[in-house]
Amino acid sequence: MCGIVGYVGRAEAAPILLDGLRRLEYRGYDSAGIAIVDGDHVETRKCAGRIADLSKLMAENPAAGHYGISHTRWATHGKPTDQNAHPHFDESGKLALVHNGVIENYQQIKETLLQEHEHHFASETDSEVLAHLVGQIYDDSAVGVLDPRRHKSLLVEALRTALQQVIGTYGIALCHSDIPDFIVGARRGSPLVLGVGKDENFLASDVSAIVAYTRDAVYLNDFDLVAVERDKFEISSLGGERGNHSISKVEFTAEDIKKGDYPHYMLKEIFEQPGSVRDAMRGRLSLEECTAKLGGLNMTAAQLRDVGRVVLTGCGTALHAGMVGEYLIEQLAQIPTEVEFASEFRHRNTPMTRDTLVFAISQSGETADTLGALRESQRKGYRTLGICNNVASTIARESDGGVYMHAGPEIGVAATKSFTSQVVILNLIGLLLGRMRHLSTAEGTRLIEALESLPEKIEEVLKLSDTIKGIATKYAEATGILFFGRQLNFPVALEAALKMKEITYLYAEGHPSAELKHGIIALVKPELPSVFIAPDDAVFSKNLNNIEQVRARKGPIIAVTTESGAVRLKGIADDIILVPDAHDIAMPILTVIPLQLFAYHLAVALGRDVDKPRNLAKSVTVE
Ligand code: G6P
Repeated sequence: MCGIVGYVGRAEAAPILLDGLRRLEYRGYDSAGIAIVDGDHVETRKCAGRIADLSKLMAENPAAGHYGISHTRWATHGKPTDQNAHPHFDESGKLALVHNGVIENYQQIKETLLQEHEHHFASETDSEVLAHLVGQIYDDSAVGVLDPRRHKSLLVEALRTALQQVIGTYGIALCHSDIPDFIVGARRGSPLVLGVGKDENFLASDVSAIVAYTRDAVYLNDFDLVAVERDKFEISSLGGERGNHSISKVEFTAEDIKKGDYPHYMLKEIFEQPGSVRDAMRGRLSLEECTAKLGGLNMTAAQLRDVGRVVLTGCGTALHAGMVGEYLIEQLAQIPTEVEFASEFRHRNTPMTRDTLVFAISQSGETADTLGALRESQRKGYRTLGICNNVASTIARESDGGVYMHAGPEIGVAATKSFTSQVVILNLIGLLLGRMRHLSTAEGTRLIEALESLPEKIEEVLKLSDTIKGIATKYAEATGILFFGRQLNFPVALEAALKMKEITYLYAEGHPSAELKHGIIALVKPELPSVFIAPDDAVFSKNLNNIEQVRARKGPIIAVTTESGAVRLKGIADDIILVPDAHDIAMPILTVIPLQLFAYHLAVALGRDVDKPRNLAKSVTVE
């Protein structure tokens, strides 16, 4: 959701900023821009389109200088046009600013600047208003001879004063052509990290933008301001107090965020799942005690035993993982579990009991709605834990404990490996809570064995990629696709449909199989294939009834099933995707992967931009 990169050092800023933007492109990709200070003036290049378009612009008309800021945008206020692309300037044209977030009271501030100072605005954005506000406050204070030291602190003070007037969220970087080798950042609600180098420092929305240059990072907190120079930085709070932050080591390297030989990040990440699933359970299973060990929950045995209700909240794919979690926790631990859209949870009065345990599930750990839900739950006094992938993320840091996914960076906008890691972790939570109650050692052992056998079984599923590609190509003319599943595989149907919508732009919906006859069957026709997730389990024969109902109405059927299921579906399903047999709790992981591949291959067949689907962003840090 918009990406920011800033640089101050001895190297040429342009290639570093462009490289960083390319790595942040997953956050937004409808327009991009750069501002670099060249001597006494700011050079800016910006355009609607991708970073590749900005690179072309820079190649045709280079900008030189050793400090600057840059931005890749996902539009909130104002269409994706050249004018609305960041950076934005103040009235003097000397201050450039990039912004990630939403300034809610920008209209009011704009009115004042128009009426009292006759400012001129070039864009429709809320961000430009912020640039003007900071510039106006700075210009009012920075009178007299230019003294770099004094003016640096005046610029920081101007930003502080402006932000005190602002309602909304922001990750900000700015620079001023009068103040050499100096950039300033601030955050509230949108992530910002400081990269600490040798004789150079960086600002970025995410460490992946800067990990090629430094692995030393300082994760800023909400209401932090940071003044950055080549060889030093100073953090202070919005209230003016000096900050005290430690430098952390980034846990992955630049190598980990390369695409390697894969044509797309999404495919790479699908194929990483044997490893990511293994990493999600590494060191967390105890065969001796037949349970899971999750020290990061920060809860004693007695506290775990006393949990009377669980609420799982998240958005998109994370919400679907939560829905699998609801089945798992209720099945394994018999604890009533609710799944709540994070965006709804924080604005409604979900009934909570004193013994409710809340989990906020988020790959990025930065999703605004999920963060809002976490804060609301904590405000009400509930223990709220995180299930996150991004270790230093806001949700990971603000939660009362949690479980990390350890899935490695996920760059493809369509989430894949994070879903399977989340499902593994929810299995571990179900197992742990179950073993605090009635779940026997024998069943605990069976569950552990089922989980431990997953990586090998996933390898088998991945071997189906070419077969699935053939099936996907066959259905490239479809007008849409329906997905059906029961029990633990119902959320898989939702997730498969989400993948399909996200990257193929085809109409796709997921439903519980039995709902078919309550309306959806009206849609069935030869051009609309139905995918049934129907392993040979306790509800197989029920699924079979629904499959027959579709077949009777000439709807093409693709079945994801196990070997014995395939025998019974021969001559009924048009196409069969065969997954290995497994314990029910492991099945959603084995059934979702072929459907990730199905969406992927269909999107490629349709010529879609798989890693950067239209209108989407990976990390949605606005509401
Ligand atoms: C966005 C992404 C989805 C993702 C959702 C939640 O909508 O496009 O792929 O599932 O955010 O993201 P999170 O980082 O909180 O898991």
